[in-house]
Amino acid sequence: MLYTKVAGIGHYVPEEVVTNNDLAEVMETSDEWIQERTGIRERRYGIKHEETTTTMGVRAAEIAIERAGIQKEDVDFIIFATLSPDYYFPGCGVLLQRELGITKTEVGALDIRNQCSGFIYGLSIADQFVKTGMYKNVLLVGAEMHSMGLDFSTRGRNVTVIFGDGAGAVVLQPTEEENRGILTTHLHSDGTYAEKLAFINPGAHGGYHHKKMGNEVDYGYKDAKYGEMFLTQTMMDEAHIYPNMEGQFVFKLAVQKFPEVIQEALDKTGLTKEDIDMFVPHQANLRISQFVQKRLGLRDDQVWNNIQKYGNTTAASIPIALCEAFEAGKVNKGDLVCLAAFGSGFTWGSALIRW
Ligand code: ACO
Repeated sequence: MLYTKVAGIGHYVPEEVVTNNDLAEVMETSDEWIQERTGIRERRYGIKHEETTTTMGVRAAEIAIERAGIQKEDVDFIIFATLSPDYYFPGCGVLLQRELGITKTEVGALDIRNQCSGFIYGLSIADQFVKTGMYKNVLLVGAEMHSMGLDFSTRGRNVTVIFGDGAGAVVLQPTEEENRGILTTHLHSDGTYAEKLAFINPGAHGGYHHKKMGNEVDYGYKDAKYGEMFLTQTMMDEAHIYPNMEGQFVFKLAVQKFPEVIQEALDKTGLTKEDIDMFVPHQANLRISQFVQKRLGLRDDQVWNNIQKYGNTTAASIPIALCEAFEAGKVNKGDLVCLAAFGSGFTWGSALIRW
């Protein structure tokens, strides 16, 4: 029987620190508002024209590969999770392969679009490939360069102040050691509220979903020809080209789904809250993490939060936090690590890893 272990982990955050006060210079917001509602003090932005989602992913991947004690050419499958890809297509997986200099073609590259749950979805996919013996070195990367696509006017403040850039990566390998590595993963989705937290334009929807929901909007489609619908002038003129979020709606569901999906993982494995050594939640909002921590009855030193420094880095948030916890000596062999995420889709999930 094979299990999937984390053989190496790495993360990268760009150097440029953007404080809440920096944002308050370009939009109506304040350090006090942001800290009180989200816990965020600052975030990082990648260097324009030099860094991308892919290049940050590469930096994290190089560390993970080195720590796994393998060569780049040993990677036999790449999974790249992001909502801010360099190109609409092809995905970041193949760009990462090229940037890493992996020249062999006996490697698969899969891009996944599961936003904040992307890393947990990726972990679950990797686990299926590794434990069935199909792949020996799966490189899973979560990376985001949000700063490229946010609305820096006051109109976008509820979303923009939350997000930051960064990347995290793991190398996953098979192990025959009983009860080691990924013990269980749980994935969920509910498309009912897809537009409550979404980045819908540009896109090929042509207004279809809005119309179906009785909320007809015209971002200029009515007069647009084929070939023009993907990105219309109206979308650009009226700034319908940024992410949107109904924050309170998302918050209420998140605090419900996090505990549910963690309990599901504990029930499946016959473990209890008391068995958890380290909880690494997706960094969406410090208040959400604190709520879940309380529900689990965990001490502060059993939860790794870094949203204060990096904001929400979506698919990168769990691997960055997990890597920091590992580097700080807070995740050691034999520890039970609990991961959980909730985000756009909505999609959510959890994983239990015996380190
Ligand atoms: N600065 C100052 N004021 C602001 C800002 C800002 N940055 N943003 C919004 N406001 C104002 C609003 O305009 C509103 O003003 P009004 O009362 O005059 O209308 C007021 O603050 C309250 O706005 P809310 O949106 O109700 O604020 P809330 O307390 O809900 O906090 C937040 C917003 C932080 C976004 C919170 O709702 C949240 O964290 N939600 C969950 C986010 C999440 O989990 N996302 C999932 C992951 S992301 C992903 O999957 C991609």
